[in-house]
Amino acid sequence: MNYLVLVNKLNPIPEDWTNKIQTEHFTNCIGEDVEVESRAYQAYLGLKEELKTQDIEVDLDSALRSFQVQQEIMETFTKEYGSEYAAKVVAVPGLSEHHTGLALDLFLIVDGQPTILNEEMVDYPEIWEQIHQKLSKYGFILRYPEGREHITGYTYEPWHIRYIDDKEKAAEIMAEGISLEEYLGAVSRSEAVTDLGTSALYSGEERREMAVLIKCRIAANRGCVLHSLRYGGDDTASKENLAWLNQHEHGGSYTKSAGFLMDFHSPKENTGSYNPDYEYKDYQWWLGYDETGGWEIVDFGY
Ligand code: DAL
Ligand code: ZN
Repeated sequence: MNYLVLVNKLNPIPEDWTNKIQTEHFTNCIGEDVEVESRAYQAYLGLKEELKTQDIEVDLDSALRSFQVQQEIMETFTKEYGSEYAAKVVAVPGLSEHHTGLALDLFLIVDGQPTILNEEMVDYPEIWEQIHQKLSKYGFILRYPEGREHITGYTYEPWHIRYIDDKEKAAEIMAEGISLEEYLGAVSRSEAVTDLGTSALYSGEERREMAVLIKCRIAANRGCVLHSLRYGGDDTASKENLAWLNQHEHGGSYTKSAGFLMDFHSPKENTGSYNPDYEYKDYQWWLGYDETGGWEIVDFGY
């Protein structure tokens, strides 16, 4: 049993995995049935117990998921928030770490109330910080750290923890703040500088959301190393640019536009998408805002 198994946008769950693992079932505090790989479950109970001594109460929302459940989650998110958003928060069936039984989604119980929705949970950064400090002691890591979106392909998830069954390795990963991909050498270790610039049109939060969207997209391009991503300035929101985005064949009906510039290094092997082993400067990304789907990537290139 390989507790360091890598499942991500490029690496599907190993075929015979489900037959090999032993699991535990339990019912969480809101009456939902949850299934977890056995050792991960024991470790989780230890973590939960220790957090309780710090007055932090957690429960498990979801751990092991079938392809079918993953598909249902994908459909719900796509319907609710659009496909671009769904792609950065939900894995497609077969590529979700939740199929391993080693990925656990925590939720918080705040003042006796279950706090489960993603948009609610992000309101408690101090609590998550305290939880993250305890993870490695029980063999867990944070799987989708902030600032590693260009590598994991997913937005920061403070609740998604991953059991690796090795406290020392977990401590190393957590201390360095890196992703499992980097630790395993599946991608080179890289920081990416993000410059959100200034804007009179879009809030910092909105520009950050656009940047994460682009970083999640670049992560799917095997071997690309992102160096920097910069907001292109409010000029990129001109009427002409908006009209141009709306002319795109698969475009939505956009009411706002924004552009970003990226510096990155393409993979050494020729992938067909880029010139091999080439330093791209000022590569453009164009986003449109659609009232139903939110911000989405409409075009990119030189
Ligand atoms: N939320 C994670 C990425 C998943 O769906 O597996
Ligand atoms: Zn999760």
